[in-house]
Amino acid sequence: MVIKAVRGFNDILPPQTELWQLVEEKARMVLENFGFQEIKLPILERADLFARSIGGTTDIVEKEMYTFTDRRGELVTLRPEATASIVRAYIEHGMYARDEQAKLYCIGPMFRYERPQKGRYRQFHQINAEILGVADPLADAEVLQLLTLLFDELKLTNVEFQINSLGCSACRPIYRRRLKDYFQAHLGEVCADCRRRYELNPLRIMDCKQESRELLESAPACIDHICPACRDHFESLKGYLQALGVSYRVTPGLVRGLDYYTRTTFELVSSRLGAQNALAAGGRYDQLVKELGGPDLPGLGFAIGMERLVSLISPPAKEGSRPVFVIPLGESAKQEALKLAVSLCQEGIKCQIGYGGKSLKSLMRRAQKLHSLWALIIGEEEISKKSVSVKNMDRGDQQLVPLGEIFQYLRKER
Ligand code: HAM
Repeated sequence: MVIKAVRGFNDILPPQTELWQLVEEKARMVLENFGFQEIKLPILERADLFARSIGGTTDIVEKEMYTFTDRRGELVTLRPEATASIVRAYIEHGMYARDEQAKLYCIGPMFRYERPQKGRYRQFHQINAEILGVADPLADAEVLQLLTLLFDELKLTNVEFQINSLGCSACRPIYRRRLKDYFQAHLGEVCADCRRRYELNPLRIMDCKQESRELLESAPACIDHICPACRDHFESLKGYLQALGVSYRVTPGLVRGLDYYTRTTFELVSSRLGAQNALAAGGRYDQLVKELGGPDLPGLGFAIGMERLVSLISPPAKEGSRPVFVIPLGESAKQEALKLAVSLCQEGIKCQIGYGGKSLKSLMRRAQKLHSLWALIIGEEEISKKSVSVKNMDRGDQQLVPLGEIFQYLRKER
């Protein structure tokens, strides 16, 4: 029986991987220009970490985590997101003691047991960036600007920035009460999960896909109940975004599916993505470091869904990337051909060699298949003349070039 990949877990094959490399390369460049440093984290964490950070009544924790006991009976989870892990590492290594402010990023796979569909997978990849120890709304504006620059680099257009404020520990309880008052009259209409959420975490009802649009749209909005300090923070953010020319839409219904958010939340949506239209999302989590046992320090960040991003970009023009193909004519030429191929690679010239002692004709076909511009043929005659026959695959002409001049020749002719 042929063994296939697990449902929702995808192979990413070449040449698609080139787009992934491009996205990663541009993201690293932009993030590092903004002062972010890479952090590498395990993909397996103690299950508690996510229950305590993302929240026990969220869909992610209730329904979507890959949690199991390991051989020693410890409950562990394949990370569904990276923010909790970054905050754990920041606390565990006392990073805040050296410098409260940390700008960290990581790139890698996340795991959620969701129903797979276009743009939604059980293993997916995120580019995740966090700023720890900064309360200033300048940082909120900075990360949104950073995302704009990255999308510009990738020539992505038509991305809408939706922003909202979810208040803080001072004003959220007031909003929570207002929300409970509102939903009390509608408890007969909401799903069984939401009746439970009503008691435990009424804000989660606002993120439920089962409830009618009208019910949620008529509910009180958090943004109308935030305290003056949160309002100032939000107004400052909007002012900075305007000054930077980053356009945005205030979206009162944006509550996000994770419980740790305070104040700013945002989503970047693309109309080209279909039902799963969020390309990136994030916000502030000013209580999370403290809730996970660290000092009382704020934080914010975002994650980009790489599968969704890659699906929107086009392959870059492949200039100068056609490999040279070295063809050994017969057994005796293989050593020289191998040496030549290695020295071309060392010089930074892409190069492949013809294997298997096949005929000149079949190796020429291979050179064509690889889209080579040059075929370098080495047989006994070439070896005796310390030269190589160089065939231009587009024009069809062929020349004998001394081995010592080959790099120069290829560079000049390219
Ligand atoms: P999130 O909204 O759960 O936030 O995920 C961020 C992005 O990851 C989404 O906008 C989407 O592009 C992508 N994504 C999520 N789930 C899937 C899936 N099943 N398949 C494909 N792509 C998916 C977070 O994860 C937060 N940790 C973001 C954050 C960072 N907030 C503060 N810092």
